[in-house]
Amino acid sequence: MRKKESSAIEKLDKITNLAIKRGFFWPTAEIYGGKAGFYSYGHLGKSVKNKFESLWRSHFIKEGENFYEIESSAILPEPVFVASGHLEHFNDPLIECKTCHFRFRADQLLEDQGIKTADMTIEEMSKVIMDKRLKCPKCNSWHLSEAKWFNMMFPVPLGAVGVKDMAYLTPETAQAAYLAFKREFEATRKRLPLGIAIIGKAFRNEISPRQLFFRLREFTQAELQIFFDPDELDKAEKWNEISRYKLILQPQGEKTQEISCNDAHKKIEIPQFYAYHMALVQKFYLEKLGIPKSKFRFRELGENERAFYNKIHWDIELDLETLGGFKEVAGIHYRTDHDLLGHEKHSKEKLHVFWNNKSFIPHVLELSFGVDRNVWALLDIFYKEELKNERTIFTFGKTIAPIDVAVFPLVSREGMPKKALEVYNMLKKETSLSCFYDETDSIGRRYRRQDEIGTPYCITIDSQTMKDGTVTIRERDSMKQKRVKIEKLKEELMKN
Ligand code: GAP
Repeated sequence: MRKKESSAIEKLDKITNLAIKRGFFWPTAEIYGGKAGFYSYGHLGKSVKNKFESLWRSHFIKEGENFYEIESSAILPEPVFVASGHLEHFNDPLIECKTCHFRFRADQLLEDQGIKTADMTIEEMSKVIMDKRLKCPKCNSWHLSEAKWFNMMFPVPLGAVGVKDMAYLTPETAQAAYLAFKREFEATRKRLPLGIAIIGKAFRNEISPRQLFFRLREFTQAELQIFFDPDELDKAEKWNEISRYKLILQPQGEKTQEISCNDAHKKIEIPQFYAYHMALVQKFYLEKLGIPKSKFRFRELGENERAFYNKIHWDIELDLETLGGFKEVAGIHYRTDHDLLGHEKHSKEKLHVFWNNKSFIPHVLELSFGVDRNVWALLDIFYKEELKNERTIFTFGKTIAPIDVAVFPLVSREGMPKKALEVYNMLKKETSLSCFYDETDSIGRRYRRQDEIGTPYCITIDSQTMKDGTVTIRERDSMKQKRVKIEKLKEELMKN
């Protein structure tokens, strides 16, 4: 194994072990051996996930004047997926080993050998697998079936009627937003663009779930569907604000480059409405989440790589050491009128709008984020080992850290635990900060434990506190401490 690969696996193991031990996440139903593709969040992971979602809400939903969040059922009736095309097209190429009956993805088998599959048909995949005499990844047998399509939706027969009343767990939150479009358009004064956001569960019966949060069978998506007039694809109201902002782009077949929105529009022909939202997404990653520029890029997907409903598709990829390089965490999809047109046709409900003096079906620009993949990306990017300080640390931004502040008595005597609990309860009740109290082990160990989960501040109650009512605040990254009066503590912590 190459050195880079083995250090990636080592880092992945270290983060996973830490995450399981400290309460970020673990395999669902672990005591029964777990099931591939399902993970549960512990208190720390759930806190990071909540914080990611609330940053996402404030950045993307507040951005639009006519943008709203809704909630819907995750089980949707079969006609929805006939109309959307998922029943016909939402497939992965499946191969079965005829010796051990292990089932796996044909494209993954090829990609694992360094063979690109983006432009291959399913027949071509089968042929290359036969020609190269590739083997079953489980039992090493050559005796493999031809690749055939496998639909990734989970069927849910409803009630006692069985297959006659079939529904599916939704494979994306987007469909529920399309179903809600007419109601929301009417309830919000019939204006475009209209943004409908859903943060909710999506389900995909992945053939080979792997890479932790990257191929789950149940996961959370944060998706924003922006319905707009297609004649305004080349307009963006706030274009002047971002026209000189530099996007980090990897166009099809080219190297990654930094290029202004203006040039992306003129030279790469990215429509203004699309480029504006690329800038918005990039700012979210660089400015709100604090992702280093060198670890971020947009990658353009070619015709054969794009989902069946997309006309323009750039993925957001982050460079993740644990997963061997740039990986997709989100996408910007120009879905045209594909979905509303399908739903209008199949439901017989008119989904045309009257706007800009004409009647038409709105087009959709979708900003689609996998929340769990982003949570993993944050763990990967902000994990550090500081040999000099003999500590492991998550250098999360303050808006993402699962615990904002930990409170400790220096020792368990001289009234310090009582005072520390008073401070802890004050912060917990009177601020929005997430707080943690700890009085076990030496103070050094307690600091290390908080560094390990990324807590930005630790407050210590010591003998001086008992004399003059001051406490120390220790900052995670610099490890510097300063003394502050208890009365000033809330103000001091909230200003950071
Ligand atoms: N509504 C469009 C849509 O669902 P997608 O590219 O299939 O598009 C969007 O998924 C995002 O959802 C991806 O960028 C990824 O972050 C996340 N995602 C997709 N499949 C996933 C899976 N099996 N496990 C975890 N996250 C997944």
